[in-house]
Amino acid sequence: MSDWRTWFPFLAEPQPLSPHYLDNAATTQIVRPALDALIRAEVQLRANVHRAVHARGEAATQALEQARTAIAAAFGVVAEEIIFTSGTTHALNLLANGLGAGLQPGDQVVVSALEHHANLLPWQQLVRTCGIRLVAVPVDGDGTLSLTALAQAITPRTRVVALGHASNVTGAVLDVAAVRAMSAAVGAKLVLDGAQMARHGPVDLMALGVDAYACSGHKLFGPTGIGVLWAKADLLATLPPLLVGGSMIRQVTLDSATWADPPRRFEAGTPPIAAAIGLGAALQWLATQDHAAMLDHEARLTQRLLEGLAQISAVRVLGPGVNGARIGVVSLEVAGAHPHDVCQILDRHGVAARGGHHCCQPLMAALDLDGTTRLSTAPYTSQADIDAALTAIDDAVRTLT
Ligand code: ALA
Repeated sequence: MSDWRTWFPFLAEPQPLSPHYLDNAATTQIVRPALDALIRAEVQLRANVHRAVHARGEAATQALEQARTAIAAAFGVVAEEIIFTSGTTHALNLLANGLGAGLQPGDQVVVSALEHHANLLPWQQLVRTCGIRLVAVPVDGDGTLSLTALAQAITPRTRVVALGHASNVTGAVLDVAAVRAMSAAVGAKLVLDGAQMARHGPVDLMALGVDAYACSGHKLFGPTGIGVLWAKADLLATLPPLLVGGSMIRQVTLDSATWADPPRRFEAGTPPIAAAIGLGAALQWLATQDHAAMLDHEARLTQRLLEGLAQISAVRVLGPGVNGARIGVVSLEVAGAHPHDVCQILDRHGVAARGGHHCCQPLMAALDLDGTTRLSTAPYTSQADIDAALTAIDDAVRTLT
């Protein structure tokens, strides 16, 4: 195993809470360079941006724009296409609201039953506000999205296809090349919710060939309260803002206003300056790591987890198996036990897992489940964490079933 654990301050605490932290799909731990950058921004650089002529304000502005450039570089795009948001939810609301302005009644937006609410509700709003038709592609009995069903759902009236790059419930990774071909064939925009996949990159947005991508800093080893929307410059240029106010205008009179060019058009008010600088540092750190080794480490731990779970007869795992296209996000059902009860027993073993619907109620309804118990890995996950989780699940099964 590499020395990734040495980069994460939470592991240096004498008695960390939830020492077997396997809730990384919800929030990853912060990496040291991001924490250092966050503290520096709040202490040495704290001032407002894009307004001041004093040295502190200029330094803050420069650091914020350097972070934008670093984030753009991490995704293989240009800084002008990176918009700071509060997270993936804000990013997808901004995008859906903007795209909605150009849609006509009867135009279709295609999503799937696997979507996180953040990539469902913003499009659902357009049914009410713009009269679009929202088409949700169903999943099969273990939560797998069928590309055949997706191909049938995409029609010449489809204007947007919006899907998760990787599922926050099953860990399944989308076949983006196949979906891009289907979307391109009808001229639809392809939007990806990258919240889960972004840290399993590198995500090269030009190579992926998508039109827009959203992700969150707190799932990328960065601070909370910061996220990113990326979209192609020509698409951004056509979008109206979601929020209006300070710092996003060109000219204002008492009864009219014109908007600044992207990205500023979409960043009304004071941005999350320190958090954005911290996210820039997290992505710069990530870029220096051996990605293949990191992915291999998580894949081996996920395999150990899946093989251990296969030995526990009351447990059913959703989604792809060991050899499927997946990340280290594993959802399981313990027959006859509620996931909250399972998670409480895991917690007694120091294992942090998430239990519930994972903001995917339509998926749970389709699978006829109240929820699942979810374990998710990160580069700092150890074999001991996986073994502790397996012991704890065994205990939960004995206690609850
Ligand atoms: N979206 C996060 C999750 O799936 C919070 O847990």
